[in-house]
Amino acid sequence: MVNKKTTFNRQPVSQNITRVENLISKQDREHLMGHHPATFWFTGLSGSGKSTISLAFEKALIERGIKAFVLDGDNIRHGLNRDLGFSAEDRKENIRRISEVARLMNKAGIVVITAFISPTIADRASARKIITESGQNSYFNEVFINTPLEVCEQRDPKGLYQKARAGEIQNFTGISAPYEAPISPEIDLPTSELTIEQSVEKLLRSLSL
Ligand code: ADX
Repeated sequence: MVNKKTTFNRQPVSQNITRVENLISKQDREHLMGHHPATFWFTGLSGSGKSTISLAFEKALIERGIKAFVLDGDNIRHGLNRDLGFSAEDRKENIRRISEVARLMNKAGIVVITAFISPTIADRASARKIITESGQNSYFNEVFINTPLEVCEQRDPKGLYQKARAGEIQNFTGISAPYEAPISPEIDLPTSELTIEQSVEKLLRSLSL
């Protein structure tokens, strides 16, 4: 199933549809929530620490009264995106759907933290565009979980690098599929030099909610 070929119709197909506007203004909703919405878009290799740091950051935000929620690659691939594999096309669709979900959650006032490899610069640029173009949210932060491949491979928490090296998993990011590091992320977290707490501190310092 992992590498099955799927073809998506990229063009909108619905016709005769009209948008409705919420009766609650953006300002009133932010007043209700007590903060602005934002998206923290984590990117990094498998095993880099995206899930661990995103969950610690979510907890730190909630403890400060900020409504936050993590969208995690492995979790979303069990549900919403269970029909997607790891071809370049499926990964693109994975990121597109998550961007739409993050946009909606931002519109509802929530701070969203996404934890997906999101390996290409182009797909991350589309995510930024989808999320910020809604006009509801100008707070988009690309967060580079900057862990070298050698370290991820040494950690190998799910044993996937070993399988990829043995040829048991195709299109594995960093081994047989590309990973394009961000060029100018808003936040860079070199996890080999920082503890989880220090990474969370750095994220908290970037807040302007
Ligand atoms: S993404 O590239 O489309 O953004 P995503 O973050 O959703 O990936 O899923 C990555 C997770 O799926 C990894 O952490 C790993 O547990 C699992 N996985 C299974 N097969 C692969 C693969 N071929 N490449 C990368 N990750 C894989």
